[in-house]
Amino acid sequence: MKLFHVDASAKRETSNSRALARFFIGNLRAQGVEVEVDYLDVTVDTPRHVDLEFAVATYRAESERTPAMKARLAASDALCKRLFEADAFLFAMPMYNWSMPSVFKAFIDNITRTDLTYRKNAHGQYVGQFSRQKTLFVTTRGADLRPGNPFSSMDALTPALKASFSFIGVVEPRFVDAQPLQFADQEARAAALVRAQEELVEVAAEWAAWEQARLAADVLEAA
Ligand SMILES: Cc1cc2nc3c(=O)[nH]c(=O)nc-3n(C[C@H](O)[C@H](O)[C@H](O)COP(=O)(O)O)c2cc1C
Repeated sequence: MKLFHVDASAKRETSNSRALARFFIGNLRAQGVEVEVDYLDVTVDTPRHVDLEFAVATYRAESERTPAMKARLAASDALCKRLFEADAFLFAMPMYNWSMPSVFKAFIDNITRTDLTYRKNAHGQYVGQFSRQKTLFVTTRGADLRPGNPFSSMDALTPALKASFSFIGVVEPRFVDAQPLQFADQEARAAALVRAQEELVEVAAEWAAWEQARLAADVLEAA
């Protein structure tokens, strides 16, 4: 399985989202999945923010783009190519101010590309192009936003991720949200991490079964 893995936490050694993403990959491997990782740390290699040149070039038909427009879109094209080549996506990030880290938003702005990662079909409907890939979001939150908690209505992260990725074709993404990891006592934080790890083990088992079925179908097709 070719896995495109993105980390987006400003923290490094002490980052929980990074650690949980590594835990998931370790678990996939432990379940017998051969995982080839294409890794991107958007805090180090931050995709360029949308600027005037990008905003104009991205909506211009490819055949009508000037060399300068093509050059402006080249890094975004390359990023999209990496996603197309993957079988699965793993996106790990903390919640910042109820939503996503701005570096991850810059990533989304670079991979949401008309006539490339979403296209209009003959009926005028938009069709996202990443329906083939399995997708897992690992998010970490300082507060507890689960239903019944005072901050539960403040989650602007999950809906934003769902909207952006469903538009480019992602179907039934999985979410493992570790919470509360900061604004709570030690016991509650430790329990949140254990819950997240248990959920990640379940998702890894699902993905392992999916990978086995996928490889078996490939063998049948080749026969
Ligand atoms: C700048 C900043 C903003 C944050 N905003 C929120 C927030 O709005 N809600 C929340 O629950 N936690 C918030 N947190 C806490 C982090 O989401 C939490 O500590 C998370 O576990 C960090 O993940 P990491 O260890 O991978 O960096 C914020 C942390 C930082 C540094």
